[in-house]
Amino acid sequence: MRKTLVVAIVGALAAGGMVGGATIAFAQANVVKDRQENRKQAGAAMRAVKAIIDAKGPTSGAVEQAAKLKTLEMAFIKMFPAGSTADSKALPTVWSDWAGFQAASKASDAAYDKLAVAAGSGDQAALAAAFADVGKTCGACHDKFRAKSN
Ligand code: HEC
Repeated sequence: MRKTLVVAIVGALAAGGMVGGATIAFAQANVVKDRQENRKQAGAAMRAVKAIIDAKGPTSGAVEQAAKLKTLEMAFIKMFPAGSTADSKALPTVWSDWAGFQAASKASDAAYDKLAVAAGSGDQAALAAAFADVGKTCGACHDKFRAKSN
């Protein structure tokens, strides 16, 4: 009787553990997809700014894109739970150099602020320069923290 109960409890715990493990794996698959989707939106915002620059018209439309980039960045940096590496191009350096990863994100943040100011100024050359600087901060993070190919 007593032995049966223990076996039942151990069995229930093991089953519970498996369910828990599956849940964690599922959540991490989502977080990788979510952060990749977040970066796709960052890419789209950058293309929108590029289109504004190429049109050589009013720059003010880029203010909204700069704000979008900033909002995306704030969310992005929170999407890196330990071990979320499956189907991801994030390098292990994200976690081994977490401070460096955060600094790279902050550098982009600062560049988005300058992009917003340049966009608001109406100065096309200033917008183009600020856009190039943002691009450099994207690349700087990718160089250190993102795998180059599949
Ligand atoms: C703080 C670091 C960091 C910054 C800043 C950063 N990225 Fe990334 N980016 C990454 C990492 C890490 C990945 C890989 C994510 C993954 O696969 O889990 C990535 C992936 C991407 C992807 C591929 C998404 C996909 O479909 O898988 C694009 C596009 C991208 N970034 C664009 C940008 C642009 C544009 C900027 C600047 C506006 C930028 N990133 C700034 C770290 C960064």
